[in-house]
Amino acid sequence: MSSPHTIRWGILATGGIAEKFAKDLMIDPSTRSVSDIKHTVTAAASSSSSSRAKHFLETCKCPPSASAYGSYEELVKDPNVDIIYVATPHSHHYQNTMLCLLAGKNVLCEKAFTVNATQAKRLVETAKEKKLFLMEAVWTRFFPLSLQIRKMIENGDLGAVHRVIADLSFGQDVEKTWGADGAKHRMVNPDLAGGAMLDLGVYPLTWCFQTLYHTVPTTLRKPPSVLAAVEKYTTGADENTSILLTFPSAPGGKPAHGVALTSFRVATDPDGFNTARPAIRIQGTKGEIQVDGPAFRPTHYRFIPAADDRDPQVVKAGRNEEVREVECEIPGQGMFWEADECGRCIRDGKLESAGMGWEESIVIMETMDEVRRQGGIKYPEKIETIEYPVSL
Ligand SMILES: NC(=O)c1ccc[n+]([C@@H]2O[C@H](COP(=O)([O-])OP(=O)(O)OC[C@H]3O[C@@H](n4cnc5c(N)ncnc54)[C@H](OP(=O)(O)O)[C@@H]3O)[C@@H](O)[C@H]2O)c1
Repeated sequence: MSSPHTIRWGILATGGIAEKFAKDLMIDPSTRSVSDIKHTVTAAASSSSSSRAKHFLETCKCPPSASAYGSYEELVKDPNVDIIYVATPHSHHYQNTMLCLLAGKNVLCEKAFTVNATQAKRLVETAKEKKLFLMEAVWTRFFPLSLQIRKMIENGDLGAVHRVIADLSFGQDVEKTWGADGAKHRMVNPDLAGGAMLDLGVYPLTWCFQTLYHTVPTTLRKPPSVLAAVEKYTTGADENTSILLTFPSAPGGKPAHGVALTSFRVATDPDGFNTARPAIRIQGTKGEIQVDGPAFRPTHYRFIPAADDRDPQVVKAGRNEEVREVECEIPGQGMFWEADECGRCIRDGKLESAGMGWEESIVIMETMDEVRRQGGIKYPEKIETIEYPVSL
């Protein structure tokens, strides 16, 4: 057996998600039955100080030899780094990812990829020009359950898929949690591209896209039309956003509706015990897949066959034993699967991943641009621009 390919990561920013990601990188891949890829963290950078980066590396139990930098500019120059994970607020993704690409580094950039589609296109053009790997970190796409569900749709197990309803809503006391008027927290601060849609809405959108768009052959894919209802918080960021998408050609060849819901005020799982059940419903003519939330970390789904597709004897007896429940254990947070994908693409000389490709990230950003246009959500020009470098 050949030895695993080792990928050397640099972590750009030391906030909440960077810590979860770096800890996942340190988990032995054999715990998830992976033997071809290994990860190590060779550097981390904090914009505030090198001591913060050092503390981060210690907290995440990264190798003691890893370098700690007090600026992102130093990190991108490190020759011991193969790929940089960008984990700043989305307002900063365009500037930070461009910094990495121009320094010749591959990039995995957190969601939402950028603030708008124009920025996403510019990053993709740069990655292409520089022959570098670039991916939006939509980790959900690489979960075994996502792969299984996409395969079921492609195999026709659901028949023609006509509707997908997906929700990621947190149900917060927004004023108490993140502050009111003039709040600085990234979740509600327009200067940091705050709001429910860019932060949470990308997940229900990714469920609509991975089921109704990604599963269709590339030559037949067409972007959906968009209808949006948006409520704004006192800061001007969106707090309650509902999106109705019409995909002209969904799996099965017919048009389908995608309903993507996100809210800060109400919750997908109001009691925290999953009483409300599915966060995602994928509805086809032969049955339905229901995925339990949270939408970003799917660990359980059930397949309910349509009545016409059941054994008549079983239906007559009033039993539902043909409903199939599928559970997946995750030995960590589950961010390592997207990291494995980055490792394999870099090893194989691929610039983009088939699971979360450039064209799809751009179409999703265009969808969110349209939602913002309809809802009147505006961000400051300095975070919408494609100019580089801009100091934020
Ligand atoms: N995949 C997921 O499940 C998931 C979950 C949560 C968040 N995210 C995404 O990850 C990104 C970061 O989210 P987070 O929750 O980790 O945020 P966070 O805890 O606030 O951390 C963001 C980090 O970015 C750096 N930063 C640089 N400039 C900043 C500025 N002007 N304001 C605030 N922070 C600044 C800071 O690190 P330094 O001081 O070290 O430079 C900060 O700790 C967002 O785009 C978010 O959408 C993804």
